[in-house]
Amino acid sequence: MKLVIAADPAELALTVAQAVAAFIRANPGRLLSLAAGDTPLAALRELVSMQQRGEVDLNSVGYVGLDEWGGLGPADPGSCIEVMNRHFYHPAGIRPENLCVFNGLAADPEADAAAVLELVARRGPLGLTLLGIGMNGHLGFNEPGTSPDFIGGVVTLDDVTREVGRKYFAGRTPGGTGITLGLGTLGRADRILLMATGEKKRAILTRIAASPDDPALPASHFVNHPAATWYLDRAAAPDTV
Ligand code: GLP
Repeated sequence: MKLVIAADPAELALTVAQAVAAFIRANPGRLLSLAAGDTPLAALRELVSMQQRGEVDLNSVGYVGLDEWGGLGPADPGSCIEVMNRHFYHPAGIRPENLCVFNGLAADPEADAAAVLELVARRGPLGLTLLGIGMNGHLGFNEPGTSPDFIGGVVTLDDVTREVGRKYFAGRTPGGTGITLGLGTLGRADRILLMATGEKKRAILTRIAASPDDPALPASHFVNHPAATWYLDRAAAPDTV
């Protein structure tokens, strides 16, 4: 497990933003997939600040959405695209031609997901993905039991994901489906950055670190992955490291 441990979330955000910016500078034209969720937001805001200082051109790469809640779109506060628009795509001025995301409102979600996955197949593999660890060990919406070969598509959400997901929707429980890039697609990225902060993530990270390739813990498939680096703050770091 390749680990970077920062003193606190602010230091971690800076470290992650610098790693992502370095990748973007060295790899124009590549495709990135960045998680929404609370964990990466400070790092994404730091990337926007770096661009404002002229340190990186965030439009020199393309972006593909990591995941989306079924039935939600850009006008729904808390949807993945709304969060990413607010914190990253809009303040960074990402041009539409550099962005491809799952449409949670698509009449045929399977066909919409297939089109996104087709773009990744054509332009990919991913250059870099920045992932947050769910409270049940998920990545994107790769829920417990997901095959490491899953390319992506429409999935049934785990109860833990729906319960935890209430924090994004002012206490309302999200619906039962999600759309996601799969572990197989994420695992082909040149760089996989897995990020977690806070005491509440320590228990799941302790389990993940102790159980590489455990089907019940999707993130554990990346414990020994050669492209993966785990970025944790001290509070989230497993007791064993
Ligand atoms: C959510 C999302 C993931 C996110 C993860 C962690 O349910 N599907 O993309 O990275 O869970 O979320 P958070 O960073 O808010 O803890």
